[in-house]
Amino acid sequence: MKPRTLFIWSSFTLWPLFIAIPFYFGQSASLTIIISIFFLIGWYDLLQTKRSILRDYPVVGHFRYILRAISPEIHQYFVESNTNGVPFDKESIDLINKRSDDKPAFHPFGTERNLYKNGYEWVAHKMFPKDSNFDTLRVTIGGKSCSKPYQSSIFNISAMSFGALGERAVSSLNIGARIGQFSHNTGEGGLTPYHKQGGDIVLQIGTANFGFRDENGNFHDEIFREKSTLDEIKMIEIKLSQGAKPGHGGLLPAAKNTPEIAKIRMVQPYTDVFSPPTNAEFDSPKALAAFIDRVRKLSGGKPVGIKLCIGNKKEFLELITVFKDEGIFPDFITVDAAEGGTGAAPVEYTDYIGMRGEEALKFVDEALRELGLREEIRVIYSGKVFSGFTLLKALCFGADVCNGARGFMFALGCIQSLRCHTNRCPTGVATQDETLQNGLVSQEKSVRVANFHKNTLKAFTDIASTLGVSSLNELNSSLIHTTYSKIHERLRKREK
Ligand SMILES: Cc1cc2nc3c(=O)[nH]c(=O)nc-3n(C[C@H](O)[C@H](O)[C@H](O)COP(=O)(O)O)c2cc1C
Ligand code: SF4
Repeated sequence: MKPRTLFIWSSFTLWPLFIAIPFYFGQSASLTIIISIFFLIGWYDLLQTKRSILRDYPVVGHFRYILRAISPEIHQYFVESNTNGVPFDKESIDLINKRSDDKPAFHPFGTERNLYKNGYEWVAHKMFPKDSNFDTLRVTIGGKSCSKPYQSSIFNISAMSFGALGERAVSSLNIGARIGQFSHNTGEGGLTPYHKQGGDIVLQIGTANFGFRDENGNFHDEIFREKSTLDEIKMIEIKLSQGAKPGHGGLLPAAKNTPEIAKIRMVQPYTDVFSPPTNAEFDSPKALAAFIDRVRKLSGGKPVGIKLCIGNKKEFLELITVFKDEGIFPDFITVDAAEGGTGAAPVEYTDYIGMRGEEALKFVDEALRELGLREEIRVIYSGKVFSGFTLLKALCFGADVCNGARGFMFALGCIQSLRCHTNRCPTGVATQDETLQNGLVSQEKSVRVANFHKNTLKAFTDIASTLGVSSLNELNSSLIHTTYSKIHERLRKREK
């Protein structure tokens, strides 16, 4: 008998029995109530028209939806190995957690990775390595036109807005940045009281000018001047695009758009708030150069940069050529990898749009060198930088400084449950829900954030000393080796 027929049959035979028995024997009706709820759900399933599974499999069909809803957890707890989880595998998450807890991050018995896989990257150690005494792990950002250069750590917190993250997460990040003396980017949601916890701040101008806009959404010079000249603001970043959703803009869902966020962003509360794919203040390289100049002057001469995910190489070359011709340079360019993170984005954008980080970073570094702009413009890189090796690799491939977003989210307690867009983040990181945020204790998490930063830099200097490197200037791409199979190597040579 088909489940649908079985259900209809039993609701005319078994259900009346369960109603009749307690009355006949004078027993409690609680079982009757429970069974009746099941039958009522079943009849609702049969009669609704949206979900075929429920019409064909009344009641039991719900298990399919329940299992789908908890599939990230099932996958993480029972299916994933230590090295095949995505976007971050268990081994990497454990590493970040141990570093955040200031515990040794040792691994027993040997590697679990396949070192013979095509494209596997590794570095060659010195035969007689010495302890590395790095002269500095800071880089000066600020070219000729900048009167207030910033001494940046080589590893900082990447842009994540208040809105995407809750207030406790934002405060914890900033306190962590203060303890560890590195910088914290506001993201496109603007400056909030939660950012002002004493840590250095990079103020981001998003495509919707949130926090610095007039009633029509246009950039407002005076409001921007007021905020950007605050002492704790060390640099300004103009966002062109983000690796996880280049050319798409963003959405703050109505559920997350609380009156407080709406006030800070200067929008209507409890409405879906869209940021456009591009800022209306500039629609060409020349206009962007003029905007950089305007923003730098308004901020009183602080370093101003742009953030983008590389798409069309020709467009980028045109952009930097215009910078050169106009004599107006950004102080830094942040290259965001296509594999970068987001609070929410359409899946086609996260999966198929934008250049992968490593390729983009090498391209930007080379392009700036070719035009003789490398001394003028610093390169910041973001894209899964969360360990000593990933930091070293990015610096070898051309970055001066790296930013991390999701690594710092793990330090805040994120468990990769992949619900950042629902306002139901179970760890209180990416939610505005106060009850869920109760789980996140800022005093604890800010120390974890600082520990993660400190121990990642320590791991970086340890690896560097193993390579015989004792200065940031000595890092270059020849230090990174890549394993290719013979067939692959032949194909690569033929491509060249
Ligand atoms: C929750 C979340 C919110 C983000 N918000 C912003 C944002 O407001 N502006 C921006 O430029 N990038 C934003 N990003 C992108 C990150 O700043 C970063 O560029 C990207 O995630 C790559 O770094 P990662 O691989 O270390 O996460 C966000 C990322 C995440 C995960
Ligand atoms: S734990 Fe929170 S922040 Fe982390 S992935 Fe899940 S929803 Fe996003």
